[in-house]
Amino acid sequence: MSMTEYTLSIGPELCFPVRSYSSVTSTNQLAKEAADGGAPDGLVILADHQTAGRGRRTHSFYSPEHTGLYMSLLLRPNIPMQDCLLITTAAAASTARAIEALTGQPARIKWVNDIFCGSRKVCGILTEATTVPGADRPNAVILGIGVNLAPPSGGFPPDIENTAGALFPELPSAQTRRELLQQILTEFWSYYLNLQQKPFLEEYRRRSLVIGQPVRILQPGRDPENAVAVAVEDDFSLRVLLENGELRSLSSGDVSIRVRD
Ligand code: BTN
Repeated sequence: MSMTEYTLSIGPELCFPVRSYSSVTSTNQLAKEAADGGAPDGLVILADHQTAGRGRRTHSFYSPEHTGLYMSLLLRPNIPMQDCLLITTAAAASTARAIEALTGQPARIKWVNDIFCGSRKVCGILTEATTVPGADRPNAVILGIGVNLAPPSGGFPPDIENTAGALFPELPSAQTRRELLQQILTEFWSYYLNLQQKPFLEEYRRRSLVIGQPVRILQPGRDPENAVAVAVEDDFSLRVLLENGELRSLSSGDVSIRVRD
């Protein structure tokens, strides 16, 4: 795998060391290894192609060559473990803003961290933390973001062909890809500086795809339940109204939702 290293400077006070690869297993995996090797807060790992792109809940993330922006940002936040969700939600709000600014297409967030343009998922986010035994704070947090820039030449695989989409009909220029990366990093970093004050909460709510929508709640080991999504709470849990009139707050983790037709 070939690799180039450079510094991405975004304005006088914001710069990121970047390691850019042609092909990797998973940028999150490489970022984790870099974290274990002592790499600093702000390292960006980029790849044109992932052979084992990871998604949430042990899913894979389809990452063929010349179709996407696959990136991981190594972070070393001084926050309690439970606040790592703020990194995921800040990333969702900032990536949605960046996509909309660059493409002009409205970008919405499907709780908790999928980005949709129209009815198609165009971006997935996977946050993984590493810990040292006995510590109540993460040693490092790896923020992985995968954006589908263009549809793969043979189309998306059957399991995601009805849900996945891309930002552009054809692969955009390297310049556009760079602008998207810069915009995501700029937006995210402004939130990350004050992460625990949640400056992105209203932006996240405003972009919610699910509020007011009928949803199906899916939880391992339980029957699916129908509900209507009512609100995103201050801690980013999702308040739903079940068919029996019960109000319930769902926290991410094991719960997932599908929007019903
Ligand atoms: C999901 O939709 O379930 C999350 C997908 C996250 C994909 C990105 S691509 C860059 C980074 N490296 C990975 O292996 N996964 C994330």
